[in-house]
Amino acid sequence: MAMKRASASAFLALASSGNSNSSILTRELHASPGSKKIVGVFYKANEYAAMNPNFLGCVERALGIGDWLESQGHQYIVTDDKEGPVCELEKHISDLHVLITTPFHPAYVTAERIKKAKNLQLVLTAGIGSDHVDLKAATAAGLTVAEVTGSNVVSVAEDELMRILILIRNFLPGYHQVIKGDWNVAAIAHRAYDLEGKTVGTVGAGRIGRLLLQRLKPFNCNLLYHDRIKMDPELENQIGAKFEEDLDVMLPKCDIIVINTPLTEKTKGIFDKERIAKLKKGVLIVNNARGAIMDTQAVVDACCSGHIAGYSGDVWYPQPAPKDHPWRYMPNQAMTPHISGTTIDAQLRYAAGVKDMLDRYFKGEEFPPQNYIVKEGELASQYR
Ligand SMILES: NC(=O)c1ccc[n+]([C@@H]2O[C@H](COP(=O)([O-])OP(=O)(O)OC[C@H]3O[C@@H](n4cnc5c(N)ncnc54)[C@H](O)[C@@H]3O)[C@@H](O)[C@H]2O)c1
Repeated sequence: MAMKRASASAFLALASSGNSNSSILTRELHASPGSKKIVGVFYKANEYAAMNPNFLGCVERALGIGDWLESQGHQYIVTDDKEGPVCELEKHISDLHVLITTPFHPAYVTAERIKKAKNLQLVLTAGIGSDHVDLKAATAAGLTVAEVTGSNVVSVAEDELMRILILIRNFLPGYHQVIKGDWNVAAIAHRAYDLEGKTVGTVGAGRIGRLLLQRLKPFNCNLLYHDRIKMDPELENQIGAKFEEDLDVMLPKCDIIVINTPLTEKTKGIFDKERIAKLKKGVLIVNNARGAIMDTQAVVDACCSGHIAGYSGDVWYPQPAPKDHPWRYMPNQAMTPHISGTTIDAQLRYAAGVKDMLDRYFKGEEFPPQNYIVKEGELASQYR
C-alpha cells in the first residue's frame, strides 16, 4: 500500500529486508493527522485570470483547491517562481510534503532538489507527462510520483489534428499575408496538399495516439502506428491503422509523422540527424509529446534545408522556451507555447484529478493505478 498510515513526520528508512526493493531507501508515505505543506507551481494568468471562472490551472486559481486544503488545516503555497537558487519554490523545498506542478509550467524536480526536500513524499503532475521530475532520483528516494492520466488526451489529439491540417494546407503563410496586407495565392498554393490519401504514422499509440488515429480515419489516409505494444486486433481493425514493429521501417513510409510517446531514456533524442535523414523529403512532423524527443539542432537544420517541410508542436525544452530558442526562428514551423493540453475542459479534469489524489493521500488510500509513474520504488513500465 503506497499510502501508509505511519509516523507523524516523514523519515528515511531502509525498506524491509526480503522486499524486492530492499536496497532502496524508502521515504515513507503517511497520512498522519496534522498539517501538510503543499506547494503548487503553475503559470501566471495575470489579467486573463478574471476572464473565465473555470480558468483553474493558473497561479491565481491554483486548481480551485485552496479553500478546501486550508479548511482541513493544510498550508497551500502557490507560485510561478521556479528557477534559480533564490526562487520561491526553493524557499519551501526543505519542508514541503507535496509538490504539485504542471507540464505547462514545469517545476524541474532535480536530484539536487529531491535531496534537499527531506519531507517530500508526493509529486503530483496536474496534467500528463512527468519527465520534469528526475524519475530515477525520485524512485531511489522512495517518492510517489503520479499524474492525472487521461485528463487531457482529447485536448491533445484534437490539437494534433489541427496542426496536421495547418501544415499540409500551408495555412500560416496565408494568414501572415492577410495580416501584412499581401495577396499571393501562388506563394501558398505551390505547396498546399489534401490530407486524403497521405500516409500518417504515429510513434506511440497510447491514449492520445489512438484518439488521433480515430479522428484521422474519416480523412481516408493510410494510417500506421509504432508502439512497444501492438493493439488487440479488434481495436486495430476498428481504428484502421497498421502496426509497424520496427520504427525505422515505418518512418520512411510516412508523409506525416506524429509523436505520441512519453519522454523516457529510450525516447530522448530519437529523432536525431541520422534518423531525420532517412525520412521522406518534404515530411511533416507534429510533436506535442515532448521537445527533447527531438535533437533540437537536427530539426532546425532539416527545416532550413526543406527536408522537413513543416514542423509543428507545443513542446520545447526547457519551458518556458528562452527567447533565443532556435525553433522560434527556423523556417517551416508552426510552433506555439505549450497549450494543447490546457484547454479549460482539460483544466477542469486535471484539477479534479489532483483534488481526488490529495483526498486519497490524506485518507491513506490508493490512487487509480494508471496514475502512478513512481510507486514504492518502481517506475511505471514504459519509463523503465
Ligand atoms: N502537449 C501537451 O499538452 C501534452 C498533454 C498530455 C500528454 N502529452 C505527452 O504525450 C505523452 C503521451 O500521452 P498519452 O496519454 O497518450 O500516454 P499513454 O501512456 O497512454 O501512451 C504512450 C504510448 O507510448 C508508448 N511508448 C512508450 N515508450 C515507447 C517506446 N520507447 N517506443 C514505442 N512506444 C512507446 C506506450 O506503449 C504507450 O502506448 C505524454 O507522456 C506526454 O509527454 C503532452
